[in-house]
Amino acid sequence: PRVAVLAGGLTHERDVSLRSGRRVAEALRTSGLEVSVHDIDADLIPALVALRPDVVWPIVHGPTGEDGAVSHVVELLGLRLVGSGPHEARVAWNKPVAKAVLERAGVHTPAYATLPHTLFRELGATSVLDAIVARLGLPLVVKPSRGGSALGVSWVTTADELPRAMVECFAYGDIALVERAVTGTEVAVSVVDLGDGPLALPAVEIVTDGPYDYDARYNAGRTEYFAPARLTPDEAAAVAGVALRVHHELGLSRLSRSDLILRPDGVVEFIEVNVAPGMTETSLLPQAAEAAGYELPALYRALVEASL
Ligand code: DAL
Ligand code: MG
Repeated sequence: PRVAVLAGGLTHERDVSLRSGRRVAEALRTSGLEVSVHDIDADLIPALVALRPDVVWPIVHGPTGEDGAVSHVVELLGLRLVGSGPHEARVAWNKPVAKAVLERAGVHTPAYATLPHTLFRELGATSVLDAIVARLGLPLVVKPSRGGSALGVSWVTTADELPRAMVECFAYGDIALVERAVTGTEVAVSVVDLGDGPLALPAVEIVTDGPYDYDARYNAGRTEYFAPARLTPDEAAAVAGVALRVHHELGLSRLSRSDLILRPDGVVEFIEVNVAPGMTETSLLPQAAEAAGYELPALYRALVEASL
């Protein structure tokens, strides 16, 4: 089959997406498939119409990718897609919306508040932030409601750090998600569906000496990963169960990666889910796949074939 990989886009995660897209394209070529790679721009639709690929794999992080927009275009062109449908992606990508849906389904997720930039300006920073601290306590994590790669995310331990964190967050989006910070073992659990139903790959444990920020994610050596994570069999089953639950409840397809925190008391907290997980050299899904014994070319080819 002929595969069109989509990568790039005019987003803050453009470089990450290009790195992810190139890695997947190389792996698919190694597996023997014919692959073209396309950026997200005005030439995309004519290119796809002319090419009529058998399947399109959007590896676009951030808006136009993970929000389902480009998947919508692919579906409108009558082409097949590797990954989640546009409506499901849109819900998963919006962190407070995904948290609300999953909380209702009984999944634990840290207490949170959302704050639109307009309200922040109208009501005045001090009174709004005092109310948030009164409700959620400290420490807090401030992040854009829709975003990725920890861009615009701040870890806040004292109230006087909050205004700066909000400003940083609003540089990346117009609605802030403020969450109670949860401590525990940070793990990412990828789910793949090769046609026989969703399967959780081994959890990958993330250990950093500071925040798991953009630099710690993409510069080799800044973060220590344990794949599989150092968990008891019960803990491993618990985090896998939550990732599968997330995939199912949100109606996701083919691949996803849930970022979770295992609390010392055994409760698994849902942080967020990625419908276009990073596929770079330091990314988590490829590490999990290798830990499970998959060769990446064979795994990616199987994801493509299951999507035909
Ligand atoms: N948003 C980045 C690409 C990730 O979740 O891996
Ligand atoms: Mg993310």
